[in-house]
Amino acid sequence: MTRILIINGPNLNLLGVREPGIYGNSSMETYLETLRSRYPDYSIEYFQSNHEGEIIDKLHSVGFDDGLEGVVLNAGAYTHTSLAIADAIAAIKVPVIEVHISNVHAREEVRHHSMISSVCRGVIAGFGMDSYRLAIESLMVR
Ligand code: DQA
Repeated sequence: MTRILIINGPNLNLLGVREPGIYGNSSMETYLETLRSRYPDYSIEYFQSNHEGEIIDKLHSVGFDDGLEGVVLNAGAYTHTSLAIADAIAAIKVPVIEVHISNVHAREEVRHHSMISSVCRGVIAGFGMDSYRLAIESLMVR
């Protein structure tokens, strides 16, 4: 079975509760159920951490796994700050798709720059939770 890993960074454990006007009302757990029933032939794995180093450790641990089609990464605010996560993405073989629920370019200027875009295969932002689905589908067509 083709495997895809979603990694969510800081504060994304609060999806459904956190600023629903920006991030919506759905929890990640509910959304994962929707994704998994939509793509029964794919194994959609999930990891969330509020800690930069844990995200890096996870990228290292899966990053050379030939059986993994790709990582869909919402690095949260670390997107805008973390050279260390960018270096981890650059170091691994498995492709990483950068995802944002909100349209970061329509928000505060500090969110316009991403440290990780240049080392990701592509970027999807602004489609709500559907951003994850679009990122997964980009891995399916290859
Ligand atoms: C986010 C956008 C980031 O700027 C923010 O810090 C997040 C979530 C998004 O999914 O829209 O935590 O990555």
